[in-house]
Amino acid sequence: MAVRVLPLPPVLVLPLLLALVASVHGYGGYGDGKLRVGFYKDSCPDAEAIVREIVAKAVHKDPTANAPLLRLHFHDCFVRGCEGSVLINSTKGNTAEKDAKPNHTLDAFDVIDDIKEALEKRCPGTVSCADILAIAARDAVSLATKVVAKGEWSKDGNLYEVETGRRDGSVSSAKEAVKNLPDSFDGIRKLIKRFASKNLSLKDLTVLSGAHAIGKSHCPSIAKRLRNFTENRDSDPTLDRAYADRLRRRCWRPKDKTTELEMVPGSSETFDTAYYGLVTKRRGLFHSDEALLRNDVTKGLVYRYRDSPETTFLRDFGVSMVNMGRVGVLTGSQGEIRKKCAFVN
Ligand code: HEM
Repeated sequence: MAVRVLPLPPVLVLPLLLALVASVHGYGGYGDGKLRVGFYKDSCPDAEAIVREIVAKAVHKDPTANAPLLRLHFHDCFVRGCEGSVLINSTKGNTAEKDAKPNHTLDAFDVIDDIKEALEKRCPGTVSCADILAIAARDAVSLATKVVAKGEWSKDGNLYEVETGRRDGSVSSAKEAVKNLPDSFDGIRKLIKRFASKNLSLKDLTVLSGAHAIGKSHCPSIAKRLRNFTENRDSDPTLDRAYADRLRRRCWRPKDKTTELEMVPGSSETFDTAYYGLVTKRRGLFHSDEALLRNDVTKGLVYRYRDSPETTFLRDFGVSMVNMGRVGVLTGSQGEIRKKCAFVN
């Protein structure tokens, strides 16, 4: 039987063409423009320098300030895409992402506000909050990477070139944050599914998990792993026993929200491949870290980053951060440039 192809109504042709172009270019977003390196070159030439200066000051004052800046960009991108929704405050009728449980330990909002204030003074209404998050994450991780900070990696002291041109969204929902953000108890299948839903690969998952080379966690994020994980009320069998004992002593009050647990004991301010060494020793802090050993591809990559020169990981990390930074972006005439990151205009 001959199949008749019906002509598409003109109203559908343009959106379909745009979607096709977007997919060919690998963009996860639905924006009508494109991200590019140096988007503010003409409209706000000092934008990246201003972000860098404020991030550097914050990290100089408190060396643990780099990790929360990196995490903020991730939590932004995984909910509605990288469009700054993680920064919006709750209102009377709406509980925003910020106030969702997985975001309770987010930090560094004050650094983003300082950057925004400085940029609004220099170039009013020009640089989006979503781009500030992307640039600040890049700078934070660059400053924590020894070869980069020493100027041995690139002339400009950046680990990778960050794309800009994002615009800000105006919706922020705590429910969406809970639904979209990975959980520390996720297994490998769930993690792969979550990342795939953002157009991110198994490689991106493994590389970006390497962000846990820096920063800290708190007892509630691992409490279930230390007790009551199995039916026998035992600890997570995938966690090294001696390490579990040590963590249990530190988290003797499981709900303790103040004790800080270094991601990589002794080196959680330095961005390097030590995380992968810990994961292979079953000493990753989260079940989701250890889960990387439960799939042949992700496991192979964990060992590769542990055993290869650090530059292999650093280069791949930059690529995956750019991939993540493209998720669900608003561009061109979409969205807005917020005047203050915590409020829609
Ligand atoms: C793969 C799934 C992931 C899970 C399940 C996960 C989960 C977590 C959890 C539970 C914490 C600690 C929260 C606390 O107790 O305070 C944390 C911290 C952190 N995460 Fe992830 N994360 C994931 C991926 C990522 C990615 C992709 C990045 C960045 C690219 C990232 C960056 C960070 C950083 C830097 C910290 C430390 C924050 C600080 O010191 O304040 N994580 N993550």
